[in-house]
Amino acid sequence: MQVKTPEQSKTILTDMVLPGETNPLNNLFGGELLARMDRAASIAARRHSRRIVVTASVNHVAFTKAVPLGSVVTVEAKVSRAFKTSMEVFIDVWIEDRESGERTKANEAIYTFVAVDDTGRPVAVPQVAPESSIEKERFAAALRRKQLSLLLAGKIKPNDATELKALFE
Ligand SMILES: CC(C)(COP(=O)(O)OP(=O)(O)OC[C@H]1O[C@@H](n2cnc3c(N)ncnc32)[C@H](O)[C@@H]1OP(=O)(O)O)[C@@H](O)C(=O)NCCC(=O)NCCS
Repeated sequence: MQVKTPEQSKTILTDMVLPGETNPLNNLFGGELLARMDRAASIAARRHSRRIVVTASVNHVAFTKAVPLGSVVTVEAKVSRAFKTSMEVFIDVWIEDRESGERTKANEAIYTFVAVDDTGRPVAVPQVAPESSIEKERFAAALRRKQLSLLLAGKIKPNDATELKALFE
């Protein structure tokens, strides 16, 4: 199967924050941002695998910066690593200053998608060849994150989380 770069799955969604999408402080509602990230990440996973994909887990979300009403929000998703049937997708969220156009990183998240066939059964996906230094960093740490996610979901035993154990040795 062809190996693909993260750039080949890159998906960018740019949209505004409208009044119906905010919390009482007039900042973007967290669930709305989760949905935008899920949409961008699922397109990235689909571009990588050219398959139907389903969200298997949301491994990490950092709402580090509030996103005010009226902001222009860009969600950028790329497949950072593929395993057998699952793909880790890294999402960076940026907001754009209206006057200068300067972009500030607002949030980031990591989702896991699984490619499935028409009956919902997991199917193999192409591997990832990272290119930039940040893509290489994310690729290298992805196995550790996969093991943590599986451990928390009760799908592997602590002894099988070899990458996590190595952190403490
Ligand atoms: C995701 C799903 C296909 C996994 O099915 P499964 O029977 O657990 O399949 P497997 O055990 O073979 O796992 C398939 C892959 O998913 C990975 N996976 C499963 N659960 C995971 C989790 N919590 N975190 C990270 N990876 C996970 C497995 O490690 C495996 O990866 P690999 O093949 O790359 O090694 C199945 O649980 C499903 O269809 N869930 C519903 C998805 C959905 O509807 N999402 C939208 C939510 S509203």
